[in-house]
Amino acid sequence: MLDGKNVLLGVTGGIAAYKAANLVSMLKKAGAGVDVVMTDAATRFVAPLTFETLSKNAVVSDLFSREKPWEVEHIALAQKADIAIVAPATANTIAKLACGIADNMLTTTLLACTCPVFIAPAMNTAMYENIATQVNLQILKDRGYIVLPAGDGELACGQTGAGRMLEPVDILAAVEEASKKKADFEGKKVLITAGPTREAIDPVRYLTNRSSGRMGYALADAAVSRGADVMLVSGPVALEKPCGASLYPVQSAAEMYDRVMELKDKADVIVMCAAVADYAPVDCAEHKMKKQDALVIELTKTKDILAELGKNKRAYLAGFAAETQNLEGYAKDKLSRKNLDMIIANDVSGPETGFDSEYNAVSIYTRDGNAVHFAKDTKRNLADRILTEIAKNIG
Ligand code: PMT
Repeated sequence: MLDGKNVLLGVTGGIAAYKAANLVSMLKKAGAGVDVVMTDAATRFVAPLTFETLSKNAVVSDLFSREKPWEVEHIALAQKADIAIVAPATANTIAKLACGIADNMLTTTLLACTCPVFIAPAMNTAMYENIATQVNLQILKDRGYIVLPAGDGELACGQTGAGRMLEPVDILAAVEEASKKKADFEGKKVLITAGPTREAIDPVRYLTNRSSGRMGYALADAAVSRGADVMLVSGPVALEKPCGASLYPVQSAAEMYDRVMELKDKADVIVMCAAVADYAPVDCAEHKMKKQDALVIELTKTKDILAELGKNKRAYLAGFAAETQNLEGYAKDKLSRKNLDMIIANDVSGPETGFDSEYNAVSIYTRDGNAVHFAKDTKRNLADRILTEIAKNIG
């Protein structure tokens, strides 16, 4: 599973640092290349030479070392990494990562990483259970870090409780399990739409909705990390392009329609997550409209992109249903009316899930009658769950 992968191992200053040496050996045996980055505190527990001997690579800990003066080392290491693991992860480093602090070689490198990052906490029970640490771990989870559980047992401080670093064999198993998922969209082309559309009223005004694009971008990011070739057709949003996806920016529903029709035949899977405007002004005024006591704008229905895709279906077709009531009934109606293979229904009546939130909660209904429900979670985690459901159906 890890053959040929580059693993960046961050070692921070805790007694469990000695166990990280074993993890390096296991990663090497599994076929991975390993670069070890140590904090200063970690070098007090275990000598860098131990990790250099096991990894067969120079250990890095000094942000300002100029061994390769042509390379910005923390960026080079971040770009090289397919997987990053912080083991042991102290409360201090966890807090820095949660705040985006980059004040040493490890935190700077991790901030530049775009690969999956695993965190193996290790500390005293009271420190682990402290609300500050728990909140920081939750922040990291919400941002897509994979936070491994801390084990229970006798700790170096003499106390017994939660806070032991997961054993290297279990860390390796978790990393391998996550890597397994990566390949299930290998060779698949996935077309995803995201964000709102803007329907122009005049040169400065438009009709739109509250979609932030987060759900669609999370799907694109998850699909890329599982090996898919992703085409992302996006309305105007304030998000970074997911690394590895091809982005096709559009403004209006009509532009989105044209772009999707142009790309649809290349796709094996299409997921329509965009909140496409259902209506657009019949005319867009040539000049900025002057203020009047009352304004009537005539609207016309936009073309339903999803329904059009359903007419001559070639790809596996999934749509979203954004509802404020009768979620299941309306979603199932869209599933059959638009000839879809899957519909992902989300309740958009509250501020905590749905539009413009980091979180969502979804119910998935398939053409062959299956239903599965996922409670409130980050959009990135749900994106993976949605793709797992799609993967079950496309073989
Ligand atoms: O962007 P976020 O802030 O992260 O919010 C995510 C989301 C709530 C926008 C997303 O999860 C979602 O529900 N997207 C679909 C929104 C929507 O337009 O739902 P709908 O029930 O009105 O439309 C049903 C389906 O038809 C959707 O797949 C939609 O993309 C599609 N449609 C709608 C109108 C139209 N003219 N053409 C379409 O293809």
